[in-house]
Amino acid sequence: MLRQFAIVLLGSLILSSCAKDPYDPEHDYYSFANSDQFVTRHLDLDLAVDFAARQLVGNVRLSMERLDPGARELVLDTRTLHIESVKVALPGGSERDAEFVIGATDKTLGEPLTISLPDDFKPSPAFTVTISYRTDLSATALQWLPPQLTAGGKHPFLFSQSQAIHARSWIPLQDTPAIRITYNATIKTPPELLAVMSADNDPLAARSGEYHFAMPQPIPSYLLAIAAGNLFFAPLGPQTGIYAEPELLSSAVYEFADTQEMLDVASEIYGEYQWGRYDLLILPPSFPYGGMENPRLSFITPSILAGDRSLVSLIAHELAHSWSGNLVSNSTWRDIWLNEGVTSYLDKRLMEVLFGKERADEERVIDYQELMAQLPSIKPEMQALAPRLSDEDLEESQGTVHYKKGQLLLEYLEHAFGREVFDQFLTGYFAHFQFQAITSEQFLNYLSENLLERYPGKVSQEQVEQWLYQPGLPAEAVIAESATLQRAAALAVQWAEGSASLETVPMADWSPHAVVHFINSLPGELSIEQLQELDAQLGFSASGNAEIGRSWFIQVAKRRFEPAYDAMQGFLMRHGRMRLIVPVYDQLVKNGQDQALAEEIFAAAKSGYHPITIMATQSVLPEQTTD
Ligand code: BES
Ligand code: ZN
Repeated sequence: MLRQFAIVLLGSLILSSCAKDPYDPEHDYYSFANSDQFVTRHLDLDLAVDFAARQLVGNVRLSMERLDPGARELVLDTRTLHIESVKVALPGGSERDAEFVIGATDKTLGEPLTISLPDDFKPSPAFTVTISYRTDLSATALQWLPPQLTAGGKHPFLFSQSQAIHARSWIPLQDTPAIRITYNATIKTPPELLAVMSADNDPLAARSGEYHFAMPQPIPSYLLAIAAGNLFFAPLGPQTGIYAEPELLSSAVYEFADTQEMLDVASEIYGEYQWGRYDLLILPPSFPYGGMENPRLSFITPSILAGDRSLVSLIAHELAHSWSGNLVSNSTWRDIWLNEGVTSYLDKRLMEVLFGKERADEERVIDYQELMAQLPSIKPEMQALAPRLSDEDLEESQGTVHYKKGQLLLEYLEHAFGREVFDQFLTGYFAHFQFQAITSEQFLNYLSENLLERYPGKVSQEQVEQWLYQPGLPAEAVIAESATLQRAAALAVQWAEGSASLETVPMADWSPHAVVHFINSLPGELSIEQLQELDAQLGFSASGNAEIGRSWFIQVAKRRFEPAYDAMQGFLMRHGRMRLIVPVYDQLVKNGQDQALAEEIFAAAKSGYHPITIMATQSVLPEQTTD
């Protein structure tokens, strides 16, 4: 009896430790869906965009495949959705009601929707589920903008941002990057507006208020995207163009004139572009990211409309995701470096072909410095490229390491094997895994077989494992250098010490990157008079370049340079992109004296910010209560 009890106890100990540990890199800890039993193959969406109620309303039909013949319950991801009804049908059969339950809310994951397949529902590997629903006002993927927050000021605007786990707040589905779906959609809008999606947008579509889309290539759910507004189209090249409000269209056409060439260059090096058209959608300033690689239609912040094409590496980045990310995707969010790190490597390569090595190296140096500045504040276990990610907040955990350390791993491999060999390897990698999702371990196996072992003696598997699983940056990392940036940094120090005057700063010849580097290199101790001289002579507070503004206002907040506080407030009101504003709020709090001011500005600016930006800003304003 006692022995039996001991065995049961031991058994349950082993079981409970198994439940938490070992970490399973193939398991998606960020989805409720039972995707080992069912997978979705296709979606048919039929949604109306209701600006008055700020909701999407309609239905989705999921074409399912049952992998486990014994499975009777289908679990989908939702977040704050209002589900009216769920119907199931066999191929060609009629629809019948199915019972469903919405589970308790998990702060990170949302609510599981559990659908019971009727008992007499004949086992069939294929069936459909049709769900009628509407979205909530608080849908985290959607921002509903009133006319005054758009460029034109006359029409409302809606856009979505599904990555990483927000698709579930506008469509009930299996919200995991491991599953790929094709989709068709019918979208109804007010007749004067145009709807676009991450699908086959028709540049010639007549404004009718009813739009039809098809996405014939299978994509993960985080790439589902929609926008509607007073949008017009202008072509850039045979395959490329821009959707924007008319007020922004011509400046966007000028700024992004190189897009078609970028696409041609990328296809030349990494294999055919698989998605048909590549268009850009210019969003209002509240878009929380710089860009989002929604297939066939990247969503782009207007903050890179600098007037001089100086910030177009962001377009190279979103375009490059057409290979790294959209074609070969991370299997779970733990492997996001396969999307962002590989893409950060590719975008520098494209910049190098289009604008030369000097410019690409300037961007590499800036990125490296950002990584080194941020590493110390990142927990060691999250400094690994492939961390054990299971209960962290995705918005907070996924940042600079995956982009920049990932990029440096690829640059290191390129350096070790030579560019020609490495390009061939990457092209083969994209072709081999196209339209699949993979783990870091699958990447490592493929790398070992096709590169490390094929050219032995250069890089060992253990070395790559160090990048993937250990904190910090391996000493073998190849760090780019830029003579211009070095001069800019030296000048910043010399001026601060009084050994160089600002007249010798060749601002007119410098790229914005050199200016950013100059600002970032200013030494700790500067007097108010010095900062005043700097701003008066070089005009940072008034700069129209958002990256210069970002670096400058970070310094302004950190150093409490009050003469520039009005301009800083203007910057925080004007922009909604997280990268531009969250670090400024953060420095206001960290300077120890301006938390109240930060809260005041936030309260004034908040109604123009996206829900994700609001959450990110609140996370650096410790006392701020949510309302
Ligand atoms: N896919 C990302 C944006 C993203 C990442 C959204 C994680 C949600 C979760 C996009 O490709 C990206 O990396 N954007 C960057 C621009 C880039 C040039 C580094 C951004 O928004 O700043
Ligand atoms: Zn990216």
